[in-house]
Amino acid sequence: MNSANLPNKVKLVEVGPRDGLQNEKNIVPIDIKIDFINRLTKAGLRNIEAAAFVSPKWTPQMADSESVLRHIERSSETIYSALVPNMKGYERALESQVDEVVIFSAASEAFAQKNINCTIAESIERFKPIADAAKKDKLRLRGSISCAFGCPYQGVVKPESTATVVKYLTQLGCDEIDICDTIGVATAGQVKKTFEVLGKFAPLELFSGHFHDTYGQSLSNIYAALQSGVSIFHSSTAGLGGCPYAKGATGNVATEDVLYLLNGLGIETGIDLNEIVSIGEFISKAIGKSNGSRAGRAIASKLSSVMS
Ligand code: HMG
Ligand code: MG
Repeated sequence: MNSANLPNKVKLVEVGPRDGLQNEKNIVPIDIKIDFINRLTKAGLRNIEAAAFVSPKWTPQMADSESVLRHIERSSETIYSALVPNMKGYERALESQVDEVVIFSAASEAFAQKNINCTIAESIERFKPIADAAKKDKLRLRGSISCAFGCPYQGVVKPESTATVVKYLTQLGCDEIDICDTIGVATAGQVKKTFEVLGKFAPLELFSGHFHDTYGQSLSNIYAALQSGVSIFHSSTAGLGGCPYAKGATGNVATEDVLYLLNGLGIETGIDLNEIVSIGEFISKAIGKSNGSRAGRAIASKLSSVMS
């Protein structure tokens, strides 16, 4: 903790290659996916969500997850994670030598149904053999809770609903639990209140904050979470992202914007902001999108005016 009662260090989990790209309509060529992950590794990211072993019928963009993991250049210091919704996904992830498997449910029944085609209770039953296998195979186990603040189908989600899923995931032995604002509707006060409640069910070090920027609240939500004692955050280079089963949700908070905030607060991440800015430019051009990071665009234009 520093003098402002904020952590000295933060772990950033880069979710661009998975959450960022999963929503792209055109299939992103595999060479671009691999290049993207390799550049992120070189820029100092120590946890990259690289793939999703979900049904290719549900999320076609992630169908090449095996090939992606086979061809990336790994660093022994980086954790490469992948989503697994069931044992079939787990077997694929194990075969692909991931370091961490991510089981994912929701705090809202309606969203669980749309995203994974089952109830929350059924999803936990599906996760039990995955959790057992991950422990046996010595893989890290992370649990994600979607719609922890609001749901596109059910509206506002109470902290108590999120806490119920937290309880299940701690019982499964999750090493980390993601509190996800899937549709980017949370505000700072709600974030504080939620972590106050969740802190009664598990130590705050176990939680990460996964914020989307739909309503432009993601950085203030991160600041509120930092003040609450959270020190792990998810972000996506160039602000890529969106969930195919959460219509209208925009990208994840941009890694460049989070780094700019954390650098300003003197919080260490081990990641080079200028490198991420150039990766943001690279991936935006490669997939034909405008760069969604405000800090990324500002720094890139400053750097290009210095060069010219
Ligand atoms: P289902 O249709 O109920 O399951 O889907 P099923 O068992 O009937 O399987 C249907 C078909 O998919 C079968 O093939 C299975 O073999 C196959 P068929 O016999 O018809 O040829 N299948 C698989 N293939 C490969 N790998 C697998 C797999 N599982 C089944 N693992 C299921 C249930 C959970 C599989 C499906 O709903 C699913 O894959 N959902 C994932 C959807 C998704 O990718 N959502 C986005 C990620 S979550 C997210 O973005 C939120 C997050 O970022 C946090 C946040 O912001 O909130 C994490
Ligand atoms: Mg997400």
